[in-house]
Amino acid sequence: MPGLQQQIELTLANTFESVIRELTDDADSLLPVNPLVHTSQHAHFQADAAMSLAKRLKTKPRDIADAVVASLAGDDLFSALEVAGPGFINIMLSDTFLTQALDEMQAEARFGVEKGDAGAVIVDYSSPNVAKEMHVGHLRSTIIGDACVRLHEWLGFTVLRRNHIGDWGTPFGMLIEHLLDIGEAQATDELSLGDLNTFYRTAREKFEATDEFKERARRRVVLLQSGDADTLRLWQLLIDLSQRYFVSVYERLQVKLDGTEFYGESVYNDMLDPTLQELQKLNLVSTSDGAECLYPNGFLGRDKEPLPLIVRKSDGGFGYAATDLAAIRNRTQELGASRILYVVGAPQKQHLEMVYEGARMAGWLQPPASAEHISFGSVLGSDGKMFKSRSGDTIKLADLLDEAVRRAGEVIEQKNPELPTDEKTQIAESVGIGAIKYADLSSERTRDYVFDFDQMLALEGNTAPYLQYAHARICSILRQADDMPVLEGEDAAQLILGHEAERALALSLLRFPTVVADVRASLLFHRLATWLYETASNYSSFYTQCPVLKNDDKALRDSRLRLCQLTASMLATGLDLLGIEAPSRM
Ligand code: ARG
Repeated sequence: MPGLQQQIELTLANTFESVIRELTDDADSLLPVNPLVHTSQHAHFQADAAMSLAKRLKTKPRDIADAVVASLAGDDLFSALEVAGPGFINIMLSDTFLTQALDEMQAEARFGVEKGDAGAVIVDYSSPNVAKEMHVGHLRSTIIGDACVRLHEWLGFTVLRRNHIGDWGTPFGMLIEHLLDIGEAQATDELSLGDLNTFYRTAREKFEATDEFKERARRRVVLLQSGDADTLRLWQLLIDLSQRYFVSVYERLQVKLDGTEFYGESVYNDMLDPTLQELQKLNLVSTSDGAECLYPNGFLGRDKEPLPLIVRKSDGGFGYAATDLAAIRNRTQELGASRILYVVGAPQKQHLEMVYEGARMAGWLQPPASAEHISFGSVLGSDGKMFKSRSGDTIKLADLLDEAVRRAGEVIEQKNPELPTDEKTQIAESVGIGAIKYADLSSERTRDYVFDFDQMLALEGNTAPYLQYAHARICSILRQADDMPVLEGEDAAQLILGHEAERALALSLLRFPTVVADVRASLLFHRLATWLYETASNYSSFYTQCPVLKNDDKALRDSRLRLCQLTASMLATGLDLLGIEAPSRM
C-alpha cells in the first residue's frame, strides 16, 4: 500500500500534468512534476509546485494552481482544496478517503509497510571485548543494533546477528598470565560476578609494571597462536566466563542476544590465510617493512602517503583489520549478505571505510550488496564530559540498569500503588530499561547525548514512560468498555472522523508506513520515536476533546473505541520495533 503522502502526490502530479499539457505543446520538457506535498498547520497538506512551473510557462502561479484545483473538484480524495498565497494549494483530505485508508491500513500486514525483499541482512553489533567491562559505547551499539535487527525481522528479511566480540589478539597473553597468577578459582569468581574491570585493570597494571610479566605475556601469546592445548583451555575459560556475563546483561536489557550470535574475532582465524592468499592473487597487497599491506583507494595519511590496511604484520600475526577483511568476505561471499550494518562508534569510521573499500577492490562488495557504518556519538554525563563513574572508571552497565529500574519502581509506586507487587516489579523492569533505550534511540544517532535519569524517566515529554503510560491508558479504556464493538475486519464499526482531533490522530496513524520506510533506509530511529511521540500527543488531545466511553451516540462511541484500539496497537508496534515493552497496565 503506498503511503498517504505518495497517494496525494500521485494524484496531484497527474493533475498538474494534464493542466500543463493544456497550457503548452512542450509539456514533456517540464515533466514529471514533483508536487512537494508537505504537512502544514492549517490545512493538512500543502503543495507548492505551481511556483516553479509558472516561470517556465510564463504564467502566474495562481493561474496554474487555480486550474489544478478546478480540475480536481469532485475528486473524492479531497473535501476541500484552495489556493493560498502566491500559489500554494491547501489540501483537506476527505473523511471518506481517510476512513478508507485507515480501514485498509488496519487490514494489511505490518499496517501496509512494504515487505523486505530477498537477501540476508547482517547486523554486526554489541561486540564487547572479553575480560573487559562493556562500556556505554557497547551499550549504544547493543541498543541500536537490536533495533536494526527487530526492524528488519519485522519487515520480513532474513537477519543474521554477528556479535563481533574481541576474543583474540595480544591482550590475551597478559590476561591468561594474570589468570594463572590469581588461580582459576578466584578468576572465575571475579569474572562471574561481572567484575571485569578489576580483572582487566590488574592485568594491565602488571603488564606495565614489570618486564618479567611482560615477557611471560609475550610468550603466552606465542603459545596461544601456535595452538598450545593448555593455553587454549585457559583462553576458552576467559571467553566462557565473559560471555556468561554479557548474556546476563543482554537478558536484563531485553535484547535479542542470547549467546547464539557470538561470532568473535577468533571465528575468522581459519579464514585469514585464504583471505590473504586471495588478495595476493589479485595483486592487491604489497610488502612494507615486512608487513603485507593493502592500500584502499582514496585514503591518504597526514603526510599525503596512502594509508595501509595491515593484512599480515611483520611478525606473521594477523590483526583487527585482517579479521574484518576476512569477515566481510565471509559475509558477502558465503552468507550472501545484501546489506551489512556495522553498528560501531564514530571513532572507527575510517577503519570501517577502509575495510569496505578494500572489499570492493577485491570484488567482495558489489552493488546491490552494501556495507553501512551505523555510526553513533558518545554518551555524556550531566557535566558534558564523557560518561564515567565518579572514580573515573567506565560505569558498570549492570549498575546503570539497576538504578533505572529502581527509579522506575518509584514512579510506578506513585502512579498505581494498588497493583500487585509482582506486576509492579515487572512493570518497573519494562519502564526502567525502556527509558534507557528510548533516551538513546530518540536522540539523533550520530550526535552525542547526555545521560540523565531524571529526564529519561519523566512522565511528560518525549520519553518511554510517557509513551508506555499513554499506551497503558488506552488499554485501560478498552478494558472498561462493555459491549465492545467489532474492531477489525469487514464487520468492524464504521469510523467517523468529524472532529478535528480525530482527523489529526488519523493522519498521524496514516503516516506510519512512510516513517518506517524512511527509517528502514536511514536507520535513524529517532524519526520513529518522533512519530510515536506525535501520535501519543495527538491521541491525548483526541482523548480530552472527544468523549469515548461516556458518549450517548453509540456509533460515535464505537468509532472512537476503534481509533483507541488502532492507536494502542500501533504504539505497541512502534515501541516493539525499538525493543521497548508496552505493558497494558501502569
Ligand atoms: N570489539 C570492538 C570494540 O570494542 C568493536 C567491534 C566492531 N565490529 C567490527 N566488525 N569491527 O571496539
